Amino acid sequence: MKFYIPPQLTRLALAFAIFITLFIVLRNLLVPDTFGQYGHYRGDSLIDNQQPEIHYSGQEACLDCHQEIEDMKQTDVHNTIRCEVCHGPGEKHVSSGDAADISKPDSREFCGVCHEKNAARRQSTIVQIRLSEHNTGKKCIECHNPHQPWEMKE
Ligand code: HEC
Ligand code: HEC
Ligand code: HEC
Ligand code: HEC
Repeated sequence: MKFYIPPQLTRLALAFAIFITLFIVLRNLLVPDTFGQYGHYRGDSLIDNQQPEIHYSGQEACLDCHQEIEDMKQTDVHNTIRCEVCHGPGEKHVSSGDAADISKPDSREFCGVCHEKNAARRQSTIVQIRLSEHNTGKKCIECHNPHQPWEMKE
């Protein structure tokens, strides 16, 4: 008896061959080189995690150049608040010394983050005002010095 391969099987085998080749090619292209180096993850991710980009420098770094602001801050109620809580991450500015690399938050809403009346906050922990009632129409820092809130500006 002659050995007979039905034509639909040949076509099916061809389709399989294409899929498998495609799979192998794509897998080689898409799987990162160091995948599986140590386990079921990308080996290089360990190196990435060891070197996160630094954004915050810590208040001590600021004081090298701005000690007078800290001296001022120590005399008033904001003494416990560190520079970068208000000015945001300062590492870039510390390296460059460029004023454009640090933020100077001046909106009423910014002060409101901590001082807006909120029933879930104890008034004894932080004094709160209503932004919509307290001296509206002016920025907080037109009257309060942010580094020395009770040293009122004229
Ligand atoms: C190497 C010195 C140096 C260090 C460190 C430094 N600064 Fe400055 N800073 C400057 C200089 C110079 C200026 C620009 C001069 C000016 O306008 O008084 C400035 C300006 C600023 C300004 C005003 C920006 C503006 O738009 O007017 C802020 C806010 C500020 N620094 C905050 C910080 C904070 C917060 C830190 C710590 C994370 C810090 N600085 C660390 C040198 C420094
Ligand atoms: C409670 C929030 C707050 C804290 C904490 C704070 N700042 Fe500021 N700072 C401000 C605001 C708001 C301004 C903008 C003032 C303005 O434009 O009149 C400012 C302005 C500045 C300026 C510009 C010059 C000036 O006096 O207006 C410098 C420099 C500065 N801050 C440095 C610092 C440093 C250094 C620290 C930490 C020792 C610090 N700040 C802590 C809110 C804060
Ligand atoms: C990160 C939170 C925070 C931010 C932002 C902040 N403050 Fe304060 N503020 C405090 C704390 C904490 C105190 C000390 C506790 C108290 O007295 O409420 C305080 C105290 C004060 C007081 C004295 C309240 C009192 O009766 O003793 C004034 C005024 C004040 N802040 C104004 C401002 C102004 C203006 C801004 C915006 C430039 C600002 N604060 C931003 C946390 C903050
Ligand atoms: C026109 C000037 C002026 C402006 C603008 C202003 N304040 Fe005041 N603030 C005062 C004076 C004066 C007092 C003290 C008398 C009083 O309690 O009203 C005070 C008191 C406070 C107190 C203490 C309230 C208490 O019950 O002890 C806080 C907190 C405060 N201000 C935060 C802010 C914040 C945050 C802003 C911006 C949203 C702001 N102030 C805008 C002048 C101002």
